[in-house]
Amino acid sequence: MKTYTLAALLASVALPGMAMAEELEVTHWWTSGGEAAAVAEFAKAFDATGNKWVDGAIAGGGDTARPVMISRITGGDPMGATQFNHGQQALELVEAGLMLDLTEIAERDHWRDFIYPPSLLDSCTVDGRIYCVPVNIHSPEWLWLSNKAYADAGIPVPTNWSEFVASAPALEAAGKLPLALGNQPWQSNLAFGAIAVAIGGLDLWKSINIDKNMEAAAGPEMLKVFEAAAEARALAANSTVQDWNQATNLVLTGEAGGQIMGDWAQGEFSIAGKVAGVDYTCLPGLGVNEYISTGGDAFYFPKLDDPAKEAAQLELASVMISQQAQVAFNLKKGSLPIRGDIDLSAANDCMKKGLEILAAGNVVPSGDQVWSPDTQTQVEDLMVEFFKSPDMTPADAQARWVEILSANI
Ligand code: BGC
Repeated sequence: MKTYTLAALLASVALPGMAMAEELEVTHWWTSGGEAAAVAEFAKAFDATGNKWVDGAIAGGGDTARPVMISRITGGDPMGATQFNHGQQALELVEAGLMLDLTEIAERDHWRDFIYPPSLLDSCTVDGRIYCVPVNIHSPEWLWLSNKAYADAGIPVPTNWSEFVASAPALEAAGKLPLALGNQPWQSNLAFGAIAVAIGGLDLWKSINIDKNMEAAAGPEMLKVFEAAAEARALAANSTVQDWNQATNLVLTGEAGGQIMGDWAQGEFSIAGKVAGVDYTCLPGLGVNEYISTGGDAFYFPKLDDPAKEAAQLELASVMISQQAQVAFNLKKGSLPIRGDIDLSAANDCMKKGLEILAAGNVVPSGDQVWSPDTQTQVEDLMVEFFKSPDMTPADAQARWVEILSANI
């Protein structure tokens, strides 16, 4: 008599649409306290479907994680799902046919009707097909300030970038570091980008980054941006920490006055029990030009050539975009949800500011959405050098920056 294993029996009774439990490894670079708490919400929601999230966190930040992810996918060892930033980071992988096409479920579940702004879905679309799920909007254009540091120094919390610069001597006299800046290369680049939108303003930013106007890039308004970046360099001269969350921690404990960082810093404040407006202050657009960029994170699903795993991948995509997971994940992550049809009444004051800016449409695309990964890396290298070289003049840095951009348009 023929005998059947339990697994074979179960497989034989599985109905179409009734997915079997599958393990999926999910890679990402969310390793700080706030990030880990946020990603755990996705894991919980996926596990609730009967499947199993196998966490593949990669330490060291995106610059370290992305090459590992890419080489695993191109080298024949793909994971079940992986984070990238919105934009062009995974474009070559998609073009090489290595990523699962999500168009069918995107159409079935009407993603285009609720994903906002639509540019998020456009960033997932290659030749009319959809290859990723945007999961949040993260903007880097924020100045995070420690209310304690300013109370200790006996001066009011600044309300904009020039007040922040002017407050530095009082902070230093009180033994504080004015500006916390970590040494991971992307952090200098992030600071420069935030200063560019805040000091240069939206029109200049768009003309250079979208219209690729190199005269504007080389012009006097942009020089002012480089001069402000040189001020930031001086304020951060004694900052020795490495990771972004270590720099956030200096603000959190009142050892530093401020940090220019993405709104993911909120995850650290909230896990430490700090309250926006009481313990810390956030200034979008550095308190000068209140614009945020619509960068953030998206998940891609490498092709696994296994129908059962593929069903689980599609299920994970649906979970990530669901209303429940969007609320739970984004509240912990400090990011804005990618859909407008959910209840975010639990958002803190800073997140509410972000939501207002988004609703007013004061948004710019992220660098990843308008420049190739290669250009981004070259600019990042220049910014690291600039922030580490007090002798490099703003005009010299500007000239080199224009050279990089001009060679890549
Ligand atoms: C991601 C954020 C993340 C941050 C720091 C960014 O590239 O978009 O989700 O929190 O890196 O790790």
